[in-house]
Amino acid sequence: MKNLDKKYLEQTASCLMAKDKGILAADESNETAGKRLADIEVANTQENRRLYRELFLGLPGLEKYISGVILFDETFWQKSDSDAPYPQFLSEKNILPGIKIDLGAKDFPGFPGEKLTVGLDDLPERVKKYAENGATFVKWRAVIIIDEKNNLPTPQAIEANADALGRYARICQEAGLVPILEPEVLLNGPHSIAKAEETTTIVLKKVFEKVQEHKVHVPGLILKTSMVIQGDENPDEASPEEIAEATVRVLLQTVPKNIGGVVFLSGGQTPIEASAHLDAIAEKRSLPFEIAFSYARALQGPAMQIWKGKPENVEAARIEFKKRLQLNTLADAGDYDISLEYSD
Ligand code: G3H
Repeated sequence: MKNLDKKYLEQTASCLMAKDKGILAADESNETAGKRLADIEVANTQENRRLYRELFLGLPGLEKYISGVILFDETFWQKSDSDAPYPQFLSEKNILPGIKIDLGAKDFPGFPGEKLTVGLDDLPERVKKYAENGATFVKWRAVIIIDEKNNLPTPQAIEANADALGRYARICQEAGLVPILEPEVLLNGPHSIAKAEETTTIVLKKVFEKVQEHKVHVPGLILKTSMVIQGDENPDEASPEEIAEATVRVLLQTVPKNIGGVVFLSGGQTPIEASAHLDAIAEKRSLPFEIAFSYARALQGPAMQIWKGKPENVEAARIEFKKRLQLNTLADAGDYDISLEYSD
């Protein structure tokens, strides 16, 4: 077992959690990127995926709002318009380059309807390769599905995914990379906010049990969590205040106080919801650790609709992207107001 460079890990985590900044999730797989491109009627080619990344990563001044970017493997090895490999391009802007390192959520054998994230087998070798090429942090996403009719999630799916998160985190810390642990409790379905709260509590408790078991250095890791929200097929919508209360309750109960930080995914919330909910959580000022946004869709979605794959739309699309960055930065400080959505 290797010793961990705990100070170095803590420093990286604290750079990622820099005040008033978030972590951009630009790590959609080629398949998911294809869906985002199909939505704007753009073909899913390698170069179009690069242009899609360039739209966001090439925003002048991105470093004012973003401390780190999670890249997907393909982008990690691609070059920006300025001909620099993306990890170097980001580092030169003072943005930490990260990499989504899991190999996806696959069907969990024996547990119909559930997923287990894979990618542990050759993880030490893969981590080394990315670290040598500029990655400073990594992300692993597990997917937890709520389906009350079928009694999901099962304890086995929670256990197996949490165990993989713990093992992954230790392996990456041994290589000097800060792990982001993302156990995403999906928003899909008719479940209540109470069910989401119960499930998220169980999942996060298990994740931190495994973190301890696998001897992961807690101040050198970041949790990326779902907010606690009712399912997207439940018409009984909770208010931002209720969502913030439930989310804060869960985090206070499950997350060690000395964690490197906690960031939120948007998970299918609209961009405005993701900002309003983050703001309501931040306004409570009751969490003992740094929090931030780490959205993909809620940051990129509106700009994609303007871009539509056309070079002449890049500038207008980037203005929209910048607006979401500014509003989420305000939300992170508890200073967002919905009226800002409609002012220039
Ligand atoms: O894995 C999911 C991303 O890290 C966050 O994406 O904000 O669109 O849910 P999202």
